[in-house]
Amino acid sequence: MLAIETSCDETGAAVVEKKGEIITVLSNVVSSSVLQHATTGGIIPENAAREQVKLIIPVIESALIQSISEDFKGNSFKHAQQILNNSIDAIAVTYGPGLIGSLLIGVETAKTFSFIFNKPLIPVNHLLAHIFANFINQKPEFPFIGLIVSGGHTDLLLFNSFKKYAWLGGTRDDAAGEALDKIGRILGLAYPAGPEIEKLALYAVKKEFRFSRALINSGDFDFSFSGLKTEVSRYVQKQKKLSKQEIAEISFAVQDSICDVLVNKALAAAEKYNCNTVVLGGGVSANQYLRDKFQKDTHNNTKWNFYFPDKKFTTDNAAMIGTYALLDPTPTSWRKVKASPNLYFA
Ligand code: KG4
Ligand code: ZN
Repeated sequence: MLAIETSCDETGAAVVEKKGEIITVLSNVVSSSVLQHATTGGIIPENAAREQVKLIIPVIESALIQSISEDFKGNSFKHAQQILNNSIDAIAVTYGPGLIGSLLIGVETAKTFSFIFNKPLIPVNHLLAHIFANFINQKPEFPFIGLIVSGGHTDLLLFNSFKKYAWLGGTRDDAAGEALDKIGRILGLAYPAGPEIEKLALYAVKKEFRFSRALINSGDFDFSFSGLKTEVSRYVQKQKKLSKQEIAEISFAVQDSICDVLVNKALAAAEKYNCNTVVLGGGVSANQYLRDKFQKDTHNNTKWNFYFPDKKFTTDNAAMIGTYALLDPTPTSWRKVKASPNLYFA
């Protein structure tokens, strides 16, 4: 399976295969325009789409060649064409949600390949793929609670099977990653700030700040992170200048507040729906403090199973798109596949 992911600022292509129950990633190429977005403090959709256009063919070419051998020398374009023709059975592509300009690049490329090379096309929901990245090299058992924590989404779902799932709740305002990125901007950190906040939090010593945990006891599965951003902003405005140590302390408190809410709600959902398994996906699930907190808050009780994707499959990538397409393939005529920026859960 050749998989293509272009929902935001990452251009991804991967080749994945399924033998029996085992899914193997043969290649996974991600090229990001994130450095450009760091200069604007966030993503400007038009810029992201322009970068996608430039990167899409070279990234697909690399993924195809790397799936066979890393050190190919010769006419790479022709070689990639041969691999696509002879070794690829189907093409998977993210069709939503995401930025329309970015999505269109991947979707139209995949449709063109499907038409020209006569390969089945499988459209994939990016959000579900974040959860099913956990099926690369591991196999969570159904039923499980799925928690998607990315730059664009914070959603809790109950999965009974690949096809049978129910949405339990989500954020009413900012997503967890979005809150980290916006708070990072207030603190003067580079975009995307999630990984920066994780690193800086390690230098916190006093750990005396405590920010609020919105909706933590609301009894539902909704989230709200925009108040946290306002709280941090108010605090920072009152200070003359923040020292490096203060930034580390604030980073720890922000991370702690967000992770506390995420762990609390995910475990409450698991208790309510009688699941011992919680599966996380999305960029924020790369966060080690969050990973450790699940074990810590359940006192390492062995009844609980927590799954996180390998860190390289947490942020946007095409391997997760191919994996989901292999696990639950729904081939669709290329004529019917459309980029759907507002796609949610069907
Ligand atoms: O899943 P993703 O690549 O893109 C979306 O689908 O939105 O997630 C990107 C988000 C960004 O907000 C980024 O700051 C956050 O994931 N992120 C992290 C970490 N790595 C990425 N947040 C906290 N800790 C990390 N290590
Ligand atoms: Zn994503």
